[in-house]
Amino acid sequence: MSVPNLKLNTGAEIPSIAYGTWLSKTEDVSKGVEYALEAGYRHIDCAWGYLNEKGVGEGLRNSGVPRSEIFITSKLWGTWHRRVEAGLDETLAALGTDYLDLYLMHWPIPLNPSGNDPLIPKRADGTRDIDERWDIKDTWKQMEAVLKKGKVKAIGVSNMSRKKLEAFLPDVEILPAACQLELHVYNPDHALVAYLKSQGILVQAYSPLGSTNSPLIQDDTVVRIAQKYPFAPAEVLLGWLLSKDLVVITRSLNPVHISSNITGAVSASKALTAGDIAALDRIAEAGKQKRMVTPPWGVDLGFDNWPSA
Ligand SMILES: NC(=O)c1ccc[n+]([C@@H]2O[C@H](COP(=O)([O-])OP(=O)(O)OC[C@H]3O[C@@H](n4cnc5c(N)ncnc54)[C@H](OP(=O)(O)O)[C@@H]3O)[C@@H](O)[C@H]2O)c1
Repeated sequence: MSVPNLKLNTGAEIPSIAYGTWLSKTEDVSKGVEYALEAGYRHIDCAWGYLNEKGVGEGLRNSGVPRSEIFITSKLWGTWHRRVEAGLDETLAALGTDYLDLYLMHWPIPLNPSGNDPLIPKRADGTRDIDERWDIKDTWKQMEAVLKKGKVKAIGVSNMSRKKLEAFLPDVEILPAACQLELHVYNPDHALVAYLKSQGILVQAYSPLGSTNSPLIQDDTVVRIAQKYPFAPAEVLLGWLLSKDLVVITRSLNPVHISSNITGAVSASKALTAGDIAALDRIAEAGKQKRMVTPPWGVDLGFDNWPSA
């Protein structure tokens, strides 16, 4: 199955469907990656914070697909903001590659690098140990430096609201190439997507099925539209996002889903009518707005639809 490519503002091509690796155990993710590459995926979405990049690396190697044919995205975790190159080196070593195609700042939230946990350090009161004396603009300078060194081919951000981006973008030397966000029919963030496009920043949609157990495949509107076609609800959800010229990242460890997600998404993106797309666009505003990924950071990310604690 051939997946359409999109273009980054660096000029590089990026496959519009990525295989997601969050929450997959190291021993499972290697098989998942191998299967995804066999099924035609050429974009793998990883992160230091997923603690499974060794397994991803094993899958990449076992697949036999040349490195040059695979687009690899990884992400800088919060505890590495003060030492971007060292964090990146851990990712490169685990994946078994000497460069990334895209490196994202995972959350615009630096975490205490000397705290009580390398992943989610906490304070004595149980709240997350944010590194309040570190400015993400300095993180970005270090990301620009690893780009100039050639260790990554593009840099970007993730989980950034318009409010955060407007405070950040005027000071950067190199514009982010991409912004990865939670985007699906219950959290379409139409205005933020339009803003990013106006800035020349490619949008990547994560948790397109509503994350673990894919709750959105049961939505009435999605099911009704799927019934008009030979598509499963998951394929309608993915195809709707693809039709907006976004990168869609979806996770599965089930070979049948891995395969049908890629073929079904491409077919659905071509088959959905303007009316179907408009109906899917309006699901959230009709009372179903809901985010699925809301870690209790304890800081204001600037999203107007972030649930209050
Ligand atoms: N930047 C960030 O902060 C961030 C945050 C979250 C996610 N992400 C990235 O985005 C990726 C995707 O998001 P996600 O992992 O949250 O979830 P997702 O792709 O929306 O959903 C994954 C769930 O859907 C199920 N599924 C997949 N295909 C299906 C199908 N055809 N029919 C029925 N169920 C299906 C999977 O189970 P089976 O294994 O049984 O198929 C799994 O439980 C992540 O893995 C990660 O790479 C990034």
